[in-house]
Amino acid sequence: MPKSRILVIDDEAAIRDSLRMTLEYEGYDFIGAATGQEGLALAERETPDLVLLDVKMPGMDGLEVLERLRHANETLPVIVISGHGTISTAVEATKKGAIDFIEKPFASERVLVSLRNALDTRQLRDENRSLKKAVEVRHQMIGDSAGLQQVMAAVARAAPTNATVLINGESGVGKELVARTIHRNSLRSRERFVQVNCAAIPEELIESELFGHEKGSFTGATEKQVGKFEQADKGTIFLDEVGDMSAKTQAKVLRVLQEGEVERLGSARTIKVDVRVIAATNKNLEEEIEKGHFREDLYFRLAVIPIHVPPLRERPDDIPLLVRHYMEYFSRENNVRAKRVTPSALEALQRYRWKGNIRELRNTVERMIIMTGGDTIDLPDLPEVVRSPGLGATKLSSDGEGGKVGTLREFKENAERAFLVGKLRENGWNISKTAEVIGTPRSNLYKKLEQYQIAQETDG
Ligand SMILES: Nc1ncnc2c1ncn2[C@@H]1O[C@H](COP(=O)(O)OP(=O)(O)OP(=O)(O)O)[C@@H](O)[C@H]1O
Ligand SMILES: [Mg+2]
Repeated sequence: MPKSRILVIDDEAAIRDSLRMTLEYEGYDFIGAATGQEGLALAERETPDLVLLDVKMPGMDGLEVLERLRHANETLPVIVISGHGTISTAVEATKKGAIDFIEKPFASERVLVSLRNALDTRQLRDENRSLKKAVEVRHQMIGDSAGLQQVMAAVARAAPTNATVLINGESGVGKELVARTIHRNSLRSRERFVQVNCAAIPEELIESELFGHEKGSFTGATEKQVGKFEQADKGTIFLDEVGDMSAKTQAKVLRVLQEGEVERLGSARTIKVDVRVIAATNKNLEEEIEKGHFREDLYFRLAVIPIHVPPLRERPDDIPLLVRHYMEYFSRENNVRAKRVTPSALEALQRYRWKGNIRELRNTVERMIIMTGGDTIDLPDLPEVVRSPGLGATKLSSDGEGGKVGTLREFKENAERAFLVGKLRENGWNISKTAEVIGTPRSNLYKKLEQYQIAQETDG
């Protein structure tokens, strides 16, 4: 931890000297000022962590200095020291924001105790503040390309309304982030944001998931269940992968949108719900409508405000910002120093066609932080496919064909490699998710990726 800097403002040289000795002995940095004016200037220039302030001084007196210090920086802790310790000065100093009042002559231990308390409180508060900031940053939308600015403008227009929003875009472009940002900036932000992944729930369960059911309404319904629409009452429901809903479910969702009411399975009672719907899909719903897979009337209900999130390769301007953002984020997470990315590495990252979009970029940055030894990430540190797109794909398919298998060991390695590539593909090249699915620590998966030179395939 860096040394705390203490500014002492006192006109008596003997007091300053004795405090300097005590403070420096205790490992603090000492800054001294003989007048209030000088103290104010030093407070501004030297950004001390705490001020020890005398009251009776020629020129500007301590209480006035205190007032000005607080005005300039309301979080800077000030301890007032006075030889003319009357109750009224003490009261006044406290009123003006001093955190402690010490009478002269003082024992140095008394000063040190007060000082330590003040600095601990301050550190705690700073930590709280940065924690809070970290939470906000997690939901921040990074980027200033024209494409993303259009998205942000649509988010800003949609947020304060109750209109239904349909978000469209490839996998990993940030559809969920957009949905959450809209909710967070809406009048419903204090209410729930309930997410339903329509593709992940088996057909026979989706209706009871969305609308709930009464006990005994079907085999296996041993308890009653409150549906997601009811859970989201007054808040927002996020229907993710809405393009994967069956015709039957589509009809029911349409009804909720039209009537604002739901019926639990096995119950004739209708329940009024006040829910804002945000839907997302990576499918082209117009095409799905033509193929007869998606109801046109539902589409129009959902797409009151359509938002298209463009793929990352159409907004390469955002890549340097995202790289920096995730570099900082993951170095903090992994407790390592942020690394510099060389211009040529950055250029390769910008040229690469990110099929997995921001999720893939994010995983790549995380991996580079963990795998790169030095302080700099250069071209050779990038995954092979990013460095030389096309190469990775060929490599992968020739291996997939099953190279020469001579020994048991070669066979095992080939099998392991093919297994990992398959699982990675299934999980959209999401390292954490794949590691979880195959039940191995992430670090081990990274090691295997390196060992087998597995890099994400691209369409070249
Ligand atoms: N503009 C952005 N700035 C910072 N992070 C982003 C941005 N867009 C997306 N991300 C991050 O990328 C990851 C993928 O985003 P998200 O899950 O929202 O994508 P998605 O479009 O819903 O993907 P899928 O179609 O696979 O469900 C998340 O970790 C998200 O926080
Ligand atoms: Mg999503």
